[in-house]
Amino acid sequence: MKPTQVPNRTNYASKSGLLLYPGYFDLRRQQALMATLREVFHRAPPYTPRMPKSGRPMSVRMSNCGRLGWFSDEDGYRYEPAHPETGRPWPALPDALLELWNDVADYPHPPEACLINLYAASAKMGLHQDRDEADFTAPVVSVSLGDTCLFRIGGLKRGDPTRSFRLNSGDVLVLGGNARLAFHGVDRIYSGSSTLLAGGGRINLTMRRVTRPETTPEKLPETLQ
Ligand code: SIN
Ligand code: MN
Repeated sequence: MKPTQVPNRTNYASKSGLLLYPGYFDLRRQQALMATLREVFHRAPPYTPRMPKSGRPMSVRMSNCGRLGWFSDEDGYRYEPAHPETGRPWPALPDALLELWNDVADYPHPPEACLINLYAASAKMGLHQDRDEADFTAPVVSVSLGDTCLFRIGGLKRGDPTRSFRLNSGDVLVLGGNARLAFHGVDRIYSGSSTLLAGGGRINLTMRRVTRPETTPEKLPETLQ
């Protein structure tokens, strides 16, 4: 397989584990990813998740691919093996995303979930931590497609100072190390900044390892077998 080009790796804060790969996916590969996502949406139509307890609808629509999908409703945040409306298993993780994970995650086990967030022009995502996973040594790997957004990231406490930067179509962001549990969110979408999505808006993919991997005999060093 051809090695993936990783242009212009920018380390926002070398100790924080937050890595930005601007333009990781060029336009042709973004279009290919969109074609793959259209197939995913055909099998797992985007739905509107609800907030825990209040049941208030979120402004972002969601779908998933992978063995598990992140889901939220009155009963709380959790991972589910099937689509909440169709009851069918989530579509498989596309090869292009598995290749991305192998390239940037620096983690020896595959991802199990890819949450797909669909942002219309007015959608936002409040500051939150991704902490529904069992192994925080695995990073969260994010891909942005379509309109640019203003992304905000802070520290491990909600009140910590935050900084903001734009994520453009094709950018990949890795939240690992000390940034794995950093509060983050999306403050705004710059409507019309990209023509990738036919109807405008932004799509964000976040790949996650959900369960703690078993140490299987074939993964043990030879001396321990
Ligand atoms: C998320 O935190 O689930 C999404 C972040 C983003 O849309 O960039
Ligand atoms: Mn998140």
